[in-house]
Amino acid sequence: MKQTQLWIGDTWIPGASTVTLHSPYTGDPIAEIGYASVEQAEQAIEVAAAAFKSFYKVPAYTRAEILRKVASAMEKRHEELARLIAKESAKPIQAARGEIDRTIQTYLFAAEAARDNRGETIPMDAAPHGENHLAYTQRKPLGVVTAITPFNFPMNLVAHKVGPAIAAGNTIVLKPAEQTPLSSLILAELFQQSGLPAGVLNIIPGSGAELGEILTTHPKVAFITFTGSPRVGKLIRAQAGLRRVTLELGSNSPLLIDEGFSPDELEKIADETTNGSFNYDGQVCISIQRVYVHKNIYDGFVERMVQRAEKLKIGDPLAEDTNISALINTAAADRLKKWVEHAVSKGAVVQTGGTFEGNVMAPTILTNVSPDAELNTEEAFGPIITITPFETWSEAIDMANRSKFGLNSGAFTKDIERALQAAEKLESGGVLINQIPTFRVDQMPYGGVKESGSGREGIRYAMEEMMDIKLVVLRMNVYQ
Ligand code: SIN
Repeated sequence: MKQTQLWIGDTWIPGASTVTLHSPYTGDPIAEIGYASVEQAEQAIEVAAAAFKSFYKVPAYTRAEILRKVASAMEKRHEELARLIAKESAKPIQAARGEIDRTIQTYLFAAEAARDNRGETIPMDAAPHGENHLAYTQRKPLGVVTAITPFNFPMNLVAHKVGPAIAAGNTIVLKPAEQTPLSSLILAELFQQSGLPAGVLNIIPGSGAELGEILTTHPKVAFITFTGSPRVGKLIRAQAGLRRVTLELGSNSPLLIDEGFSPDELEKIADETTNGSFNYDGQVCISIQRVYVHKNIYDGFVERMVQRAEKLKIGDPLAEDTNISALINTAAADRLKKWVEHAVSKGAVVQTGGTFEGNVMAPTILTNVSPDAELNTEEAFGPIITITPFETWSEAIDMANRSKFGLNSGAFTKDIERALQAAEKLESGGVLINQIPTFRVDQMPYGGVKESGSGREGIRYAMEEMMDIKLVVLRMNVYQ
């Protein structure tokens, strides 16, 4: 079986311990993963700090070229990379291929952003005592970036951190999710072959609070970017001190569906809602979780959704026709089982699904779910939605906002006033009108309010988070 190591500097180093990685679908061992100790994490940070001393001087066109080469290497190895994702994360292969397409885009956007890092000229004479001064800003890299990444998009969400960090001229210590280290480790090869200088990207699989602590508190770490749970996000913010952090912490995205659509349009909306709810088993931070439907079309919409959910093919992530596969682990399946039981005990009706086979959960639709049941208040991160009727648009917006999260919200309506009301009032980082909240293209700003986190991803926005503004002021005509 494959034995992996840590990538520190330009060298593979054996981990301090080894953990067996299993397929979430079959349970079979996939690889033996070398895990970093705290000392090895310190070593990676030191190496990244030393590499920064020269990397920040590497010109933008060279950084852009490296990122472009990585995108083109991914293009050439597309199928191999997609299969790697499918194998270690149980993401159905079609979705895994889609992720590689997006990852390529993300690195290409990063290459463009590297070439377009600009500051601005400040209109100094706007203030009386600013006269006779020229001032401009430059955006400078921060130094060592710690990137802690999730399992659900093991290549693209890594690209959303590594891409802008390199575009900005920072160096990186990447700790990938425990379930998906292989999708990150392969980057060592891709970046090395693309000419990235030694020490700029360091990849250290591992786990545990102590490892997390050193990665967020080491004095040479300048910036932390994390995607994961609010619990860990809060811990990182508490540990980070004065360092800047970007936190992307998930959600329980609402989708509002108004009356006024034709039957054909409702068919299309149901197709898109099915996709946005069950794609990759709902293990997507912007997966649709709470659907609010106008009471006049409610029964028909529930029926449409049930028909579609029951047609989804459950199976092996590597099979071409699979839509739904295993959840990432048994703990996720157990948690969702409990939440369904709890909702049912409070009066919820299981319209379809609610069944489990090992870690595989059938696509599940619940109605009549109490507003305070976990399935309406917490992040499910599974193939499950609740559907609730509403009478007025304001009521729908109020219900959507009754959440501690706020990443993306979606609203389908033909009424421009209601569209504008949704855009204004929905409490989330993004509001998508006549589009599902799961829609994302990789150059958009992406991030949340409330417990969904802080800071923004989306290459140019992530790059801004990862840079400091330096002001230069020149006094003019001093000797005239
Ligand atoms: C996420 O789960 O946070 C990312 C969703 C996406 O990029 O589509």
